Amino acid sequence: MGLWKLVRGVRQLELHRLILVLIVFCLLSMAFLAYFVSNSPKIKEAPPMPFSDCGGRTVKAVDNSRTEPVVLVFVESIYSQLGQEIVAILESSRFRYHTEIAPSKGDMPTLMERDIARYALVIYENILKYVNLDAWNRDLLDKYCAEFGVGIIGFFKANENSLLSAQLKGFPLFLHSNLGLRDYHINPAAPLLYITKPNEVEQGPLPGDDWTVFQSNHSTYEPVLLALTKSSEALAHLGPHRALHATVVQDLGLHDGIQRVLFGNNISFWLHKLIFVDAIAYLTGKRLCLSLERHLLVDVDDIFVGKEGTRMKVTDVKALLSTQNKLQTLVPNFTFNLGFSGKFYHAGTEEEDEGDDMLLQHRHEFWWFPHMWSHMQPHLFHNVSVLAEQMRLNMQFAQEHGIPTDMGYAVAPHHSGVYPVHSQLYEAWKSVWGITVTSTEEYPHLRPARHRRGFIHRGIKVKHCHFTVKLDNLIQKNMKESVRFCQEIKIILIHLILIDTALLQLDQKYSNINPCHDKRHKDIWSKEKTCDRLPKFLVIGPQKTGTSALHSFLTLHPAITSNFPSPVTFEEIQFFNGPNYHDGIDWYMDFFPFPSNVSTDFMFEKSANYFDTEVVPKRAAALLPRAKILALLINPVDRAYSWYQHQRAHQDPVAINHTFHEVVTAGPSASKELLTLQNRSLKPGTYATHLEHWLVHYQARQLHIVDGTLLRSNPALVMDGIQQFLGVTPIFNYTQALVFDEGKGFWCQRLEGGRPKCLGKSKGRKYPEMAPETRAFLTEYYREHNLELLRLLNLLGQALPTWLREELQSTSWS
Ligand code: A3P
Repeated sequence: MGLWKLVRGVRQLELHRLILVLIVFCLLSMAFLAYFVSNSPKIKEAPPMPFSDCGGRTVKAVDNSRTEPVVLVFVESIYSQLGQEIVAILESSRFRYHTEIAPSKGDMPTLMERDIARYALVIYENILKYVNLDAWNRDLLDKYCAEFGVGIIGFFKANENSLLSAQLKGFPLFLHSNLGLRDYHINPAAPLLYITKPNEVEQGPLPGDDWTVFQSNHSTYEPVLLALTKSSEALAHLGPHRALHATVVQDLGLHDGIQRVLFGNNISFWLHKLIFVDAIAYLTGKRLCLSLERHLLVDVDDIFVGKEGTRMKVTDVKALLSTQNKLQTLVPNFTFNLGFSGKFYHAGTEEEDEGDDMLLQHRHEFWWFPHMWSHMQPHLFHNVSVLAEQMRLNMQFAQEHGIPTDMGYAVAPHHSGVYPVHSQLYEAWKSVWGITVTSTEEYPHLRPARHRRGFIHRGIKVKHCHFTVKLDNLIQKNMKESVRFCQEIKIILIHLILIDTALLQLDQKYSNINPCHDKRHKDIWSKEKTCDRLPKFLVIGPQKTGTSALHSFLTLHPAITSNFPSPVTFEEIQFFNGPNYHDGIDWYMDFFPFPSNVSTDFMFEKSANYFDTEVVPKRAAALLPRAKILALLINPVDRAYSWYQHQRAHQDPVAINHTFHEVVTAGPSASKELLTLQNRSLKPGTYATHLEHWLVHYQARQLHIVDGTLLRSNPALVMDGIQQFLGVTPIFNYTQALVFDEGKGFWCQRLEGGRPKCLGKSKGRKYPEMAPETRAFLTEYYREHNLELLRLLNLLGQALPTWLREELQSTSWS
């Protein structure tokens, strides 16, 4: 009815009215369309300009911030230079990344994990690999980028085979290659500028004659860096040669909804590094971004130190002061930090002694830190009080000469004793100088610098320092240029911006490595310490699988020695899994005796929660890369029940107030405490997952799976297998050494006269059988995990434990 009425009404309208209605309708739909397009998720909103700080995040069209941002880098090969430089910058910035060899035709790596976008940014070392992707993969990647607001950075590095001029396939963008350029300009209108200061010009020719410039009439392309062609090489179609041409362009996403930054060269030119870092920040909505605030300390070591003829004279001190003044015009309040060894004051030529005096006259214009009285390396002092005495002499010198002593900062000559940690140094520093901060180049290794980290030991923050330079190199062109081209930030050298991101974020998780595996470390490691005071193998657990029984059987062997008991954690040291790790290698080694014979003594430690603590394999492998690893496995269903009973015996109120069935079947809405108990009962039993973590850091041949059920029923047999795996001699006769105790129901040590010595009451407890329905529930729960374990053990060529074979044979598995 309504429709007919409408038709009749329209017929009655005069023609001009109809036209008017049509015009209004068109205008309305255009307005609607404009509104829709401007709010479309395809196009990111304009970035806030200028960026204030990296702390705040730009809200993205589609927020995928639930995940840690990861960069997907398509490299040409694992050896390609540009690819390595890209990765180096990502590593220096502590950005997470994943590299893939760019597929020419093949498949894209998986971009989604469940419904979450895996990558926040895509980088192509060679942009042609992107534009030449086959239609299906290209569509897949573009849809992903458009939907999740993921940007693309690409490089086009011309070579002798590159066409001089060509269109970038599928884009309204033309490339002109193999050009020589000069006078680099930064376009102030480029939205991505962040670290890079707008409006600057780098005068003079750019290195190389293989530059590519981009040309387009499309409004989506905003030049970022522009240069002139070297006059003789202007190309006719590029217009007059005085025109500026874009070598780096920013695609604002107006063409196809994807934002990109394209470089017409590689990243070698220093300004490209800056723009690259800015592009990452911009395209990830500042999720991958470094704050502009940097703290830079320039230490000048060895003040007063050195043979006659090599020391600072008055002219050098003047140069130091004038350098400082110059730097202050660029970095407000810049002050050199001078490290002094008082013993050598006035020990130079007359001219040099005047230099010493001048330094002291100007002492209030500098900062000062103690460097050691006699410039001896601290690791050479084994005795803390002798070391402290040396420090006191330097302190006395400072007090007598009016040098401030309250910096709380010190540097050891050659960074000795800082890492590898020589605890005596830390102790003396704290007691004499109240040191809270020091630095090292050594942690974890000297090179490459970007891998260095800081850490905290005994409350002293150890920052990593980056490089050492000679003073006269300090005010190089590079440095002045970098300051001029960067925003007002408290930093000087460009490569510090790129590598020095973690100065303030000390890595609490520093890794202890064996000082004897690295010559540089060994050179600054106390001669009185041996690297052999470390275990040859670890019993890693998991808990409740019979680890104490295994530990006690192992210690019966004449060539096997366990650690001394820990006053904190009793029989277990628990070094790699928790706060003890920060006490360092000295602390760990003190648990082991000096081996009487390095080649035949087998020292070990057992800490049962190493097995399922994710950080442990990495840390253990860093210190004990050649160690053998023993893991004990019983049916995870029984392990979970044993853990629950253990908690009940320890009066855990949650275990006491809930049946085992309630614990393991509790849903996500259960109390936090109940879920914690559930997690601790169930999680260690997902054996394959944990073993895989170990296998990332240890080779399969270093790992031995011990059948915990067999250890309980036939320990002598199991111990023979372990002896064989360890290669320990002499072969010990466990059949004679062990005896089955009927009362206890377990195998025990046979003492002289045949009497048994069994483990305490807490091992082999008496408790009721598990309810059948709980067993059925857990069997189902672990089904997939056990199948995974089966696959893994087959892959490793390890024998299947009896309980796993039995589970496999049970009907529910068929
Ligand atoms: P239950 O007390 O639940 O029976 P862990 O030492 O890793 O904490 O493991 C304890 C478990 O070791 C005990 O769990 C017990 O079943 C098992 N076990 C195996 N051999 C043993 C032995 N010879 N003596 C005592 N307990 C042993």
